[in-house]
Formats: sequence, structure tokens, C-alpha cells
Amino acid sequence: MTPQHNVTPATDWWRDAVIYQVYPRSFADANGDGMGDLAGVRSRLPYLRDLGVDAVWLSPFYASPQADAGYDVADYRAIDPMFGTLPDAEAVIRDAHALDLRIIVDLVPNHCSDQHEWFRRGLAEGPGSVLRERFHFRKGRGQNGEEPPNDWESLFGGPAWTRVPDGEWYLHLFAPEQPDFNWDHPAVQDEFRSILRFWLDLGVDGFRVDVAHGLVKAPGLPDMGHGEQLKLLGNQVLPFFDQDGVHDIYRSWRTVLDEYPGERIAVAEAWAPTAERTSLYVRPDELHQAFNFHYLNTGWDAAALREAIDSSLDAMRPVSAPTTWVLSNHDVVRHRTRLGGGLDRARAATLLMLALPGSAYLYQGEELGLPEVTDLPDEVRQDPSFFRDSGQEGLRDGCRVPLPWSGDTTPYGFGDGGSWLPQPDDWAALTVEAQTGDPASTLELYRTALALRRRLPGLGAGDAVEWLDAPDGVLAFRRPGGLICTVNTTEAPAPLPAPGRILLASRQLDAPGADFTLPADTAVWWAE
Ligand code: NOJ
Repeated sequence: MTPQHNVTPATDWWRDAVIYQVYPRSFADANGDGMGDLAGVRSRLPYLRDLGVDAVWLSPFYASPQADAGYDVADYRAIDPMFGTLPDAEAVIRDAHALDLRIIVDLVPNHCSDQHEWFRRGLAEGPGSVLRERFHFRKGRGQNGEEPPNDWESLFGGPAWTRVPDGEWYLHLFAPEQPDFNWDHPAVQDEFRSILRFWLDLGVDGFRVDVAHGLVKAPGLPDMGHGEQLKLLGNQVLPFFDQDGVHDIYRSWRTVLDEYPGERIAVAEAWAPTAERTSLYVRPDELHQAFNFHYLNTGWDAAALREAIDSSLDAMRPVSAPTTWVLSNHDVVRHRTRLGGGLDRARAATLLMLALPGSAYLYQGEELGLPEVTDLPDEVRQDPSFFRDSGQEGLRDGCRVPLPWSGDTTPYGFGDGGSWLPQPDDWAALTVEAQTGDPASTLELYRTALALRRRLPGLGAGDAVEWLDAPDGVLAFRRPGGLICTVNTTEAPAPLPAPGRILLASRQLDAPGADFTLPADTAVWWAE
């Protein structure tokens, strides 16, 4: 038993957990340099406990040149000085556990940074270096090797290959600063099992596995055969994604996780072509959860949502894994903006998500109803996909703007030293301070919903959703324990007999009479 792992004994805690994503750069800045840090995270853990989440997933804080905001790791066992020190990370884990919060850290196994020791040394040693075998180095095509070895595209735009001065090319599915590991190499496999143990020994409760579907490439690295720009979170069939060989890796990781007490988990960021393919990552001897990007990518339409919910639950049933739900993260437009219906729609979408069985992921700031920041000037943008002119349209900075905590002016209590991306001038009403205690606020809606989810254990449990009759554009379903959720996805009120007593509504409603209508873009939780 590791000394710091002192949370309550595990009982499938992850199956219905609400997990809050902290993006450390933008959460809270304790040292006033304009960049969030681990001491800032630590100081705000009581806020997360009071919000009512079960676990916190921290995006990468490892030593990194930050070519992709920390998803380019130079040392998997060190903290980047801009985020703090290893003792700071240990303090976050310790304090979180004392508050009964679990900590999930990000693991980036598909690629590292070009400043990682193996890559630097391999590059310096030249062609034939054994360290180059831990990556995908190849000779180029064409008479003088001047063409990339195959036609693979980087997710951030442009070819997935970069040529080094000695003439060889190396593979990077993301930025050139992110060389892909060769997972056929035993040293790579050993190294990542050792990294898992390093963090498990420090007491973390789990890992979010970056690009979990990308580690194994098709033998011979065959051409993909088309030049279509690839999208983050896409579901195309590709020779470098979702290869069957990845599952051996996760079986070996599961053995490591199971050596530790307290049910340590791993959640896959796996963009697979179908929900059935995604379910393979969460077979009982592999990882525990996989993000449900099909749900995230579903528009605000009752029929499409119902299909996404049913197909997600159906896909996970045969492998006995919980379904996950997610509306926002650090790679997509915030759902208040993305769903196109402003705050009303975002609040309704959240209540729908939190009424579904399984585990829900929240992204920092959605509990404040933050919109996407759509007017960032080009000179402040940092997303590598913006600079490489990819199909992502530089969209990822607008959801990464630092959180507003308090006060009337920027940086709204984020820290004392400004913020690495500028916050809008009109966020004073969105701060934690401004919303706390206001029953109409989005923050209090999240707090109440999460408190109800704790009080009604049936809400996140199991996999049963019983659909009830409802007009077009409206969803109505019963969960075990008698909770009914109704959601109007249309822009007009929908007549719907009140099925019981209102427990919670995404907007203020009058007490329902005989001729109740569910307003546009509204979700209600009812007790039968
Ligand atoms: C997915 C991460 O969520 C994203 O932010 C990152 O750019 C890529 N993986 C590459 O690591």
C-alpha cells in the first residue's frame, strides 16, 4: 500500500465517476507569471471538492518545450519548471486524496518531444544509431530520397515526415517537434511500463492515455492513399490508427495497474471508426474507459442524440465497460458556443449528460458557462495546428483561455501576473465569485446537479435508459430509481405533461400545471 493512497477503498468508483479536466496552464496561477501551475491547482482543490466531482484529470505538466502545450514530453518523470516541481505534484496528489478527490494524469505514449534524450541522441548519432530504432526513421522516396517515405499527413497539417540534415526522415503524426515512438521496440514498451509505475508509486489514481489508438502502425507503413486533411477526434480508417496490435500493449498495462491497490484506471483517448471498435479498448483485461467522441460530435438534435446514446450504451454492454460522456475538452470549441444555442442550450446539454448512466467528463470552465473566445488576435495564438495551416483552423486556443475566478477586471483572480492568453473584458459576471450563491447561475446549476448525482446513486449507475414517448425534438427517459429526464432540443416550447415533481431544471420554471410546456432548449430532471 503506498502511503499517499488513503482515499476510501475502491468499489468500481470509476464506473459512474464525474471527472473534471484541469488544463494546468489555464486553471490558476500561484506564482504570478501569467501561466497556471501546480501550486495553483493545489490551492483550488477545495473548489473542486465543493463542486462535487469525483476525480480530476490533469493535462500534461511534464518537462516539455511546449511545442504542443505539453503534449510534447521531454522527460516523463520530471515536472516542467513553469508548472512547479515534483514535490508540488506530490502535494496535489496528497491534498486531493485528503479531500476524497482522485487524480488522473495524462500519459503521452504515441510520441515524445524532439528534445527527449533518446531522440536527441539518436539524431546526433546519425543513420544506423540504435536509438533511431525507437522512432520511425526511414530513407525518403524519389531519386535522392527527397520525397517523404509515404503519403501520411500530420494531424496538424502538412506531411507527417520531416527530413533531418543527414537525409533520413522521421515520422510525426502531430507537430515535427513530436516524433512518434516505434512501439515494436521492446525498450519503448519497457520504458512506458516503468513510467506507469513511477506515477502509480507517487499515488495517482489513473491515466488519460493520449492518442491511445495511434501507437501501433500498419506493417510496412503503407500509403493511406488519399490527401484528405485529417481532423482531431476524427473516425477515418487509417494505417496508423486503431491497429489491432495496440491491444497487446493495453493488456500489459492492465497487469501493471492491477498490481496496485485502490483500482487505478486508464481512460483511452481513442478515435476509432465505430463504437464497436472503441469498445475493444475497454475489454475487461484492457483499459477502463474510452472517451465518447461520437457523443461529443453529435449536434443538438433529439433523434441524433438518442441514436448516439443508444449506440454508445449498446457498444459497451458486451464488454461490461461503462459508457463515458463528454461535451467539452481542450481540443474542441466549448459546447456553449459549439451547440449554437448559447447558455440555455449548454445548460440543457449538461443536465442531459449528467442524467445518463456511466462516467461524465467536465472541462474546466464549463461549470461557469464560459463561451469559446472566438476573437483572439493571431499574434497571441499558440496552437501548433494554427501555424501549420491545418484543417483545425487554429480553434484550440479559444477554449484554453484562463479561468475567471474573482473580481471585475482581467485576470479575474487567475493570478497576479496577467494571463498567457488574454481573457475577454466582459467576463466579470462569469467569475466563480460572481456566480457563487446565485441560484440562477450556471455554477450553482452544476453544484446542484452533482450533489443530486451523489444523492441518487442510481443516476450514474448501470446502463439502463428507458425511453418514454415524447413529441418530435424532445427526449424523455426514465432512469432506475424513478428519475425522469426530459429535454427539448427545439427552438419552440413543447407540450409535455409533467411526469412528476421537478428536481432540477436547466432554466427557471414555474410550478408545472396541467398544461405544462417544456420551453425551448431546456432540460428537466423529475422525481416520479
Ligand atoms: C490529443 C491531445 O488532446 C491534443 O491536445 C494533442 O495535441 C494531441 N493529442 C497530440 O498529443
